[in-house]
Amino acid sequence: MTDLPNNAQPLVEIRKLWTIFKTPDGPQVVHRDLDLSIRRGEVLSLVGGSGTGKTVLLRQILGLEHPSKGTVTVLGRPPGQFSVKGAANVGMLFQHGALFSAFNVLDNVAFPLRELKVLPDELIRDAALVKLQMVGLDPKQATKSPADLSGGMIKRVALARALIMDPPLLLLDEPTAGLDPEGADGFCDLLRGLHRELGLTVVMVTHDLDTLFDLSTRIAVLADQRVIVAGTARDVIAYPHPFIHEYFLGGRGQRAMEALHDGSVPAALAGPADTASAPHNER
Ligand SMILES: Nc1ncnc2c1ncn2[C@@H]1O[C@H](COP(=O)(O)OP(=O)(O)O)[C@@H](O)[C@H]1O
Ligand SMILES: [Mg+2]
Repeated sequence: MTDLPNNAQPLVEIRKLWTIFKTPDGPQVVHRDLDLSIRRGEVLSLVGGSGTGKTVLLRQILGLEHPSKGTVTVLGRPPGQFSVKGAANVGMLFQHGALFSAFNVLDNVAFPLRELKVLPDELIRDAALVKLQMVGLDPKQATKSPADLSGGMIKRVALARALIMDPPLLLLDEPTAGLDPEGADGFCDLLRGLHRELGLTVVMVTHDLDTLFDLSTRIAVLADQRVIVAGTARDVIAYPHPFIHEYFLGGRGQRAMEALHDGSVPAALAGPADTASAPHNER
């Protein structure tokens, strides 16, 4: 997986973004002057401590929430403001699966297309079956209820639904959280394949260092209410900040880094060290 040239037109541009929530104790500033550009074709992982505003940022890219100040653009336009076509530009896999429990698998995947009310049902069913196949599920699963699925299968169905409109941009909120290591590996393989085959741009929030090193072409770190650094794993690890030190070089990080010495080169570390290592600070 090679990163795109730095001058590629960004798919998502976030400029001087502020997010302020009102709380009983006064305003809570979640993002302060946050800048981030996401290039076409990259798998950008967003890491940061709990409550640093990773999910809120994904929701803003999706257009479900609006920044207090600053701008977010997807393909040069505000996200979510334009109904049908805009909705198709971004697919999101929410952290908690969020399948409709009263719908079977097929109807869950078909839901966004049905909501458009423009296609005949037969076509919608076919499209949903294609997407199920794409995420590695057998058509036999189509009539199952979400209650009868494993955690890994629920994630796959939710992913099929996120992809139903063939969005160029896919947002994933902790896609492997709650999966066992085998399920997480399988899901990573699936994401890697989809990224390659569909040419998707992926923005992923993850706490799982294996997933992070396995899939990312770039890592952005959210701390101090902004993106403090965005670059390859090498760039990020070299950036002096207490969060980064603890996250990558604490016990958990050490184990993940040791796992890197098994001979495989993670995407985020691949590439020539001297050309890729100039830290690209997003500020
Ligand atoms: N709609 C909301 N109203 C008020 N506060 C919110 C809202 N959404 C998120 N927050 C707060 O913003 C902060 C960041 O939330 P979130 O993006 O979910 O964090 P994380 O980085 O863990 O995903 C948290 O303190 C959360 O409580
Ligand atoms: Mg979150």
